[in-house]
Amino acid sequence: MIKTLGVLTSGGDAPGMNAAIRAVTRSALEKGYEVYGIKNGFQGLVYGDFIKFDRNSVSGILNRGGTFLGSARLPDFKKEELQNIAIAQMKKVNMDALVVIGGDGTYRGGYDLAKKGIKVVGIPATIDNDVVGTEYSIGFYTAWNTIVEAVDKLRDTSASHHRCSVVEVMGNRCGDLALYSGVCVGAEVIIVPEDDFREEEVLAKICHLDQVKKGKHAIVVATEKLVDVNKLAKKISEVSTYTGRATILGHIQRGGSPVPNDRLLATLMGDKAVELLSNGISGHCVGIVNDEIVSTDIIEAIDKGKEKKSDLMKIFTRLA
Ligand code: F6P
Repeated sequence: MIKTLGVLTSGGDAPGMNAAIRAVTRSALEKGYEVYGIKNGFQGLVYGDFIKFDRNSVSGILNRGGTFLGSARLPDFKKEELQNIAIAQMKKVNMDALVVIGGDGTYRGGYDLAKKGIKVVGIPATIDNDVVGTEYSIGFYTAWNTIVEAVDKLRDTSASHHRCSVVEVMGNRCGDLALYSGVCVGAEVIIVPEDDFREEEVLAKICHLDQVKKGKHAIVVATEKLVDVNKLAKKISEVSTYTGRATILGHIQRGGSPVPNDRLLATLMGDKAVELLSNGISGHCVGIVNDEIVSTDIIEAIDKGKEKKSDLMKIFTRLA
């Protein structure tokens, strides 16, 4: 039987994290548990930076971007010494259960604590959509929407000036943001880490388009960390009649009020996380698969790589 539950957000923030904190808190209070919000992820766990929550502590946050608890990256949390300090801090307030909201780094921290006897459930929240065990992570829908809106605007100006816009989006080592956005903006080229990047092929495609769509414009959407978009835009200017221009969308993709899909996902996942804990399940993470909220062993989510979206890429290639 759980007495006290803590909730934290960790890693890169994602729109909808607040909605998840709200759902976890209210579901847990409903079950009669004491609830603490933990500031700044695992760092707050180590420092004992806890806030006692009541129902009103999470009022007015459902629509707010970011995470009102704060977030941090703490790679050192893999050290047992820090984990033991965190557990000692938790014991001071009888905290025996924890919901960790974030990506696979967050899951790792949660898994280490679960191995030491703390009841832990993970909720996937990252704009990258790179967490295994779920088709969508909280924040992805909002970031996808932000990118589509931004690239639509870039297309307006690219069209006016007969340019080729090379847009870099986030995603870390996952191409979902680039692929889903690229499809929705009608990009001419999408560069993702799941496929080998060959500059000659991209340039050949752009030159071909340049010939068949004379006087038009083009959009290239590239996942970060794969190519220097400024250099690629320069090359495009050299080999085609387009003037290449690079835009790095950057952290704007992580901000903003969560779209309804992220609010709903966060609410369903937050509620499910507490239900799992109340049923004595620990070391699991929640997810959405085929429109159903499910749970899987957290270790599977950490160990496996996410499946490649080959079908969507094939459709894109056919239609581009
Ligand atoms: O994991 C989310 C993410 O936004 C990635 O897409 C990106 O590579 C990284 O975080 C950026 O991290 P930071 O905000 O620490 O620079």
